[in-house]
Amino acid sequence: MDSRYPLEEIRSRCELVEIISPHVALKRSGKNLKGVCPFHSEKTPSFIVNQETQRYKCFGCGESGDVFNFVMRVEGLTFPEAVEQLARKVGVSIERTPGDNRVTAERDLLLKINQLATDFFRKQLTASKFAIDYLNRRGITPEAADKFRVGYAKDEWRALSDFLRSQRIRPEDAARAGVLIESDKGTGFYDRFRNRLMFPICDVQDRVIAFGGRALAEGDVKYINSPETKVFLKNRTLYALNLARKEIIEQSKVVLVEGYMDALTAHAAGFTNVVASMGTALTQEHVNILSRYTRQAVLAYDADSAGMNAAIRGAPMFEEAEFDVRVAPMPEGEDPDSLIRRGDRAVFAELVAGAIPIPDYRFRMISAKHDLSTRAGQLAMLREAIPIVAEVAQQVERERLIALLAPYHPNYGSGTTPAEVHIRQEIEARRTRVAQQQRPQSGPTRRPVARQGRVDLLSEEGKAVRKAERELLGKIICHGASADDVFAAVPPESFIVEDTKTVATVVREELANRGKLNVDALCARLAGTPGEGLLNELLVQTSESSETPIAELLDAIKLYRNKEHEKRFRMLAGKIQRGEIKGTDKEFSEYWQLVRELHM
Ligand code: UTP
Ligand code: MN
Repeated sequence: MDSRYPLEEIRSRCELVEIISPHVALKRSGKNLKGVCPFHSEKTPSFIVNQETQRYKCFGCGESGDVFNFVMRVEGLTFPEAVEQLARKVGVSIERTPGDNRVTAERDLLLKINQLATDFFRKQLTASKFAIDYLNRRGITPEAADKFRVGYAKDEWRALSDFLRSQRIRPEDAARAGVLIESDKGTGFYDRFRNRLMFPICDVQDRVIAFGGRALAEGDVKYINSPETKVFLKNRTLYALNLARKEIIEQSKVVLVEGYMDALTAHAAGFTNVVASMGTALTQEHVNILSRYTRQAVLAYDADSAGMNAAIRGAPMFEEAEFDVRVAPMPEGEDPDSLIRRGDRAVFAELVAGAIPIPDYRFRMISAKHDLSTRAGQLAMLREAIPIVAEVAQQVERERLIALLAPYHPNYGSGTTPAEVHIRQEIEARRTRVAQQQRPQSGPTRRPVARQGRVDLLSEEGKAVRKAERELLGKIICHGASADDVFAAVPPESFIVEDTKTVATVVREELANRGKLNVDALCARLAGTPGEGLLNELLVQTSESSETPIAELLDAIKLYRNKEHEKRFRMLAGKIQRGEIKGTDKEFSEYWQLVRELHM
């Protein structure tokens, strides 16, 4: 393995049983020790530790390894992290090879400066009545402050600078660590954090890598954080993960909150699997790191915070990582800190336990916008919900969501084509469209295979007119456009596609009979006809009302008709010239009809 580490020496100094004991109650069983496996849930012990070989194996789940594997697995550490942790524990110093000397030396220096700053801020806190009053006002107990190593940065420009100098730290090094700033007036260095409550940000090995500082004076920017440094990569850091990782593994679930205070308060209230995303969007790297511990996350975010919106956009990223992400939106105007602080510990627990998947949450948001007691409201909801389902990669999950939507579809329980079928078709069509748009534009463009009897509809004009007909019907049925105006220009019988023609005909009849359109009646009349699929598509259309004005749609149809009529006119003219048509033939009057239409 990794030659940088004296693995054999570390291993020989570790007693596997001692390392495992805090996690598993081991009992002697012959030569070995036996316990209940910490890596899967079981009642009868099948986790065996062999002291002779210093290896463990679970005969239930198959997990096995040596002391390094165990620590990696149970603490959610990477291999180097596990090695370094065990080395520290058994007092083996890790020699750096010349190759990584400079990098590690720099890292160690930045970590040391952050640690010195942490100690300094801790001292300042105990000395400041002002800061302690603030802690009390916010209900932060001394225990919680200790656990999170909360400190205070005084309202001075050079308090930390002076302290670090006294510790023989060069200011330019402290600036690279992020705690000092070099003045651009050339007057030296000053403290980045002034008059702030300090939250040290740690890596999973409990080393301070950065700070978040909360303003204590009105009018100051609420939070200032350390900049990115060699030891602080924002995209990879989650606040309080060092304190939460064991419990995350234990519960097989992580709860994400947005703020420092949220994490601190949650931990103090016993929710120790909570970490904070520090107000930023979760990245792929965050997800990768979390998946070392669990694949279940609950986002306890404010309902329409930036974090929540980012999470919604990040849904495919979670799905790709096979992460089960649920959201537990906080009540209006609350965050986990305020909620728990108010005494609603149980409410927070319930919200987390009742967290729902992201699509379900989005359905809920959409449903709230529409009046679902009306057909129009239901359809509007469906139109917005379908693109959400189309984004979901897993078919099983899409089916679950389709079943949720079906009751809002006009066909639901009507005995005709099931609502699910229509919704599914709409979703698949959208997925195909998106996939086609995303396909790189290379290679010869392929024309779709012509379906029998529709060859002309695959020409550019044919497609355009088909689309125009559908859009016109959509405008009439879903958006209240005047059918009279449309049909005056293009009567239903001259719609060119079978399904649009059927729908247009029934729409005109319905209007003639009832004076207005009723969606239920339309559905009933078109059930089982070629127009049924189209109607449902229109009712559940994923796009909003098309942007194209009616006049333009009508022009597209007229243009197409003119071209078709020109063709027919030329064909008939040829026949007449060749004497194939007599004056009494139907085609003869059609010819004159076309002459009047096209050339007069
Ligand atoms: P919030 O504005 O929700 O603050 O930011 P908060 O955590 O509830 O803080 P209190 O309760 O008012 O003290 C959420 C998180 O976003 C990051 C911080 O990590 C903060 O905890 N944030 C916010 C910043 O980094 N900078 C800011 O200016 C604001
Ligand atoms: Mn808050």
